[in-house]
Amino acid sequence: MTSRIILITGANSGVGLAATKVIVGASEKYHVIMAGRSREKLQSAMSEVQQGNTRGTVSTLLLDVTDEKSIDEAAKQVQEQHGRVDVLVNNAALGNVEPNVKSRFTSSLITNVVGPAMVAEAFRPLLLTSESPYSIFVSSGMGSLTMAAEPGAITYMPNENAYRACKAALNMIAIKEWQDFKSKGLKVFAFCPGFVVSNLRGTSEEARTGGGQAGDPAVSGQSLLDIIEGKRDAEDGKFVHKDGVYPW
Ligand SMILES: NC(=O)c1ccc[n+]([C@@H]2O[C@H](COP(=O)([O-])OP(=O)(O)OC[C@H]3O[C@@H](n4cnc5c(N)ncnc54)[C@H](OP(=O)(O)O)[C@@H]3O)[C@@H](O)[C@H]2O)c1
Repeated sequence: MTSRIILITGANSGVGLAATKVIVGASEKYHVIMAGRSREKLQSAMSEVQQGNTRGTVSTLLLDVTDEKSIDEAAKQVQEQHGRVDVLVNNAALGNVEPNVKSRFTSSLITNVVGPAMVAEAFRPLLLTSESPYSIFVSSGMGSLTMAAEPGAITYMPNENAYRACKAALNMIAIKEWQDFKSKGLKVFAFCPGFVVSNLRGTSEEARTGGGQAGDPAVSGQSLLDIIEGKRDAEDGKFVHKDGVYPW
């Protein structure tokens, strides 16, 4: 008895994988489409999910967020298989902090800004077919202009400007989508998952765990589930995190 189709981009690791586990562990009514750019990584991530506590169901979808053709083919496939999407989680991103400014900004903007904008546009007709559609952009507190402008704002890593600029831009994409489509019933959230274990900072143990400081991405997954279940509806159109709302 599937009644909610949830598509998560970049679902093969970190926040996306942890959220998939939490969501399909929560109810038989959820079907998560795990989207990613590597067939092998998706297959292995789906096997990992299916070895755990699953009440809902999962499938995989090849989707490179930087590639228009891949996005269009993925949307066509979902249209044919499911006819709609109830929840779109634009989660895929890079944490590129390489020293070369042009290549850092170019690759970050393509993956973290242009990608989610293209994915949102391609899947919006499928979302608007849902009786209760949610569009969630996985952002970061590092994208808050208000918090970055505070005199004592922390620098978390060298060359973080591209990542921060991308998340600020992503927040604007979320705001615009909310303004433009709220009258059609679309709920839109920018969501910060918190500082959690993932491949965003690199794949070494030190990088994945943020030197042992990063939290459990399952907690981010639970916050995403809360949004999907309507528990955060009062914060529709806002920049939310586990415990509340960030300033833009
Ligand atoms: N972890 C944190 O502390 C933290 C904090 C704040 C915000 N976030 C946000 O959380 C989200 C998830 O990141 P994460 O921390 O879970 O990092 P992650 O483990 O590196 O996951 C990122 C995912 O995005 C995918 N991806 C990258 N480029 C892609 C592309 N062109 N097409 C499709 N998928 C692509 C990756 O796939 P591959 O495996 O193929 O590279 C991976 O599945 C991001 O938006 C990130 O900015 C994370």
